[in-house]
Amino acid sequence: AVQAEVLVASNRGPVSYGLGEDGGLTAKRGGGGLVSGLSAIGQSTRGAERLDEGQRSGDGQADAVWVCAALGDGDREAVRRTGGVLDPGDTGGQRVRMLDIPAEVYAAAYNGIANSVLWFVHHMLYQTPLEPVFDAEFRAQWAAYETYNAAFADALAESAADGAAVLVQDYHLALVPGMLRERRPDLRIAHFSHTPWAPAEYFAILPDDIQRQLALGILGADRANFLTRRWAENFLACAETGLGGQCERVRPEDGAPGIVALVPERKARTTWIGVHGLGADAAFLRERAHRPDVEERMTALRAQIGGPDRKTIVRVDRTELSKNIVRGMLAYRQLLADRPEWRERVVHVAFAYPSRQDLAVYRDYTAEVERVAGEINAEYGTPGWQPVVLHVKDDFARSLAAYRLADVALVNPIRDGMNLVAKEIPVVSDAGCALVLSREAGAHEELGAHALTVNPYDVTGTAEALHEALSMDEGERAARCERLAAAATALPPARWFLDQLQELRG
Ligand code: G6P
Repeated sequence: AVQAEVLVASNRGPVSYGLGEDGGLTAKRGGGGLVSGLSAIGQSTRGAERLDEGQRSGDGQADAVWVCAALGDGDREAVRRTGGVLDPGDTGGQRVRMLDIPAEVYAAAYNGIANSVLWFVHHMLYQTPLEPVFDAEFRAQWAAYETYNAAFADALAESAADGAAVLVQDYHLALVPGMLRERRPDLRIAHFSHTPWAPAEYFAILPDDIQRQLALGILGADRANFLTRRWAENFLACAETGLGGQCERVRPEDGAPGIVALVPERKARTTWIGVHGLGADAAFLRERAHRPDVEERMTALRAQIGGPDRKTIVRVDRTELSKNIVRGMLAYRQLLADRPEWRERVVHVAFAYPSRQDLAVYRDYTAEVERVAGEINAEYGTPGWQPVVLHVKDDFARSLAAYRLADVALVNPIRDGMNLVAKEIPVVSDAGCALVLSREAGAHEELGAHALTVNPYDVTGTAEALHEALSMDEGERAARCERLAAAATALPPARWFLDQLQELRG
């Protein structure tokens, strides 16, 4: 079996396989902020000196193993064919161990608990008069979530060398640190939350025993890390409630926030809370955004936008409830209604890529996005002008093409752990874009000073911010964009990962 000094665990790995009709497998890179951040592990496990030299060799990859779940039939087939250690040719050299968790267990854990409960709690997405309902079905799904977390804990315990560092990612694996600690007390364990963390009063929606299990799960780690101070503070408050006050906060001498868990059935042990605000990878993005496939898509997009002087409002998201795509479109519609001078002079380029389509609420939301876009086009479109250009098929090169063409970037989530798109567009945009940014995105902590801040629920306010962004003097826009790009790239992914690893190894 593989034995590693550094292990990373996440639900979604760096690749996922599609299964063709002919039985052939095609590897595809995973999406979302987590995979973007972790793609750096190969570069970072060798140490800071090498990063500073700008070396991006694959040497570090020999040390690290990335443990992830098989997401679908293609992945399961890949596990069957390889015994679970994926072909390095598919993973950019990264050693990846993929776990084949029984499909029903996986579905209940991933769709039922992770995406329909924990994601909803942390993003505060419930329509509370009718949901959530924590009944017998929920309890059965919770048992599956425990089984799924235990499968990761087993695999990590088996693959970790003595005293290895294990970096566990996200809400899917909230129980893993505690479970792994029981199996392997010698390991150094960190947990990272890529999402927001719910405020204590909202977290209290969860049954008491579940709150407690989640708090104890994460507090099994030596370090619990978050994207912003706000989410870290929320976690501290939830852990205190979840443990019924049976824990104590300690402030280390250097002033960083920390917590000591004093739990009856366990020996007191300290979990340090940290903040690591993942940034954009400027070098990678700038190089990738100037390849021929991106240039080609720019040409095609320009043709769709039409009129050389037309401005673009660009957004790129997973079609995700928390991203607030519909209210963004409503704001754009209000802009066209209230400020007729923009008609024919602006195009809203919206890429809303499929996500979590096993869940009905995501399918309905996708349909709603398409419906509203269609309505705006029917209401305002003219033979030479399509007000909304909506694409729903995932295409990274086309996203980069839109980034480069952006005059205004619209990032208006209801709530978001960080939002890397807000950080990526200013780095790549050719002419320097203005950023309309929700105050509820984690990125707002770092970018807010140079962006136009909006309340994501305030459609009228968002329409006004779009107008202001479109009207901004070019010099000011470019200057702001430079400041945005500088703030956005302050903590590149490789550094983000390495900092956590070094802290953990202490
Ligand atoms: C967010 C989560 C990640 C997740 C990603 C994509 O960024 O923090 O853990 O991987 O969304 O979602 P998916 O369900 O497709 O993995």
